Amino acid sequence: MSIKAIKNISQVRGGSQARIMLADDGKKYVVKFQGNPQATRVLANEYLGCRLARMIGLSVPEPVIILADEETIAEQQITFTLAGRAVAACPGLQFGSLVVTDEEVWDWPRHSMFGQVHNRREFAGILAFDKWTGNADGRQVLFHRKLHQRKFRATFIDFGYCFNAGEWSFPEAPLRGVYAINEVYEGIQSWDDFAPWLWRIERFSAKELQCIADEIPCEWYGERSELRRLLSCLLERRSIVRQLVEDFRTSSRNPFPNWTAECPAPCATEASGELRAM
Ligand SMILES: Nc1ncnc2c1ncn2[C@@H]1O[C@H](COP(=O)(O)OP(=O)(O)OP(=O)(O)O)[C@@H](O)[C@H]1O
Ligand SMILES: [Mg+2]
Repeated sequence: MSIKAIKNISQVRGGSQARIMLADDGKKYVVKFQGNPQATRVLANEYLGCRLARMIGLSVPEPVIILADEETIAEQQITFTLAGRAVAACPGLQFGSLVVTDEEVWDWPRHSMFGQVHNRREFAGILAFDKWTGNADGRQVLFHRKLHQRKFRATFIDFGYCFNAGEWSFPEAPLRGVYAINEVYEGIQSWDDFAPWLWRIERFSAKELQCIADEIPCEWYGERSELRRLLSCLLERRSIVRQLVEDFRTSSRNPFPNWTAECPAPCATEASGELRAM
């Protein structure tokens, strides 16, 4: 049984017009609703993207499927502003991202922050991940810490435009899906920095992918056959992630100024697995 949204706390910035809501498990979630101005598929993208990223070891808030029924939407006045008019959100299952509750939370880092990011190595991992999933948006990150902490943590959010948003296609572009500021990549020196992440992506099992996909409510995306096609693309793309990272590395942006190894990208290890018919 899914958890239930009970109280609207606030609206957050952004194209999907998400809300922070209190749920009946006592936790707060950033909730993206069906019928939002971006596309309902961003809910499917968020859920699949967050689950996959967490499985390969990246810092991503826990994703949940959360019910906001008709009564709650009416009572809590959950509406979108579309062309200046308020339109009620669609009742049903929605996507929730557990709110990062540290005392200091930043959407955009101050210059001096980068050196103080505890898990900075994960920027190599999220880059590989965004290439794998064809993220059509710039990479979004929250930098946060508790009051007594000196260092920040980077937590990766917003997977709504993975798989090319509502399109579920993979047009390649070297500068897509990357972080806006090169500094986060400064520590990257060789393929060794990508190795743990590439290893997990290239060996990601078809069965696990299928299990996560089975949890996604079909009203978030449409036809089962389309989801099946998306999963097949993802399995196929496991073996080209190295090349996609290489295309970014050798792009005009020169994102890894401290790159030392001249050797070409090592070949992807053999990945296999069939999807069962859905
Ligand atoms: N798990 C979370 N914890 C804390 N804050 C969050 C979380 N998820 C999102 N936010 C906040 O909500 C804002 C909007 O989230 P998000 O970027 O996912 O929405 P969006 O509608 O896709 O925005 P945009 O279209 O501008 O990219 C973020 O900039 C961030 O400040
Ligand atoms: Mg965003």
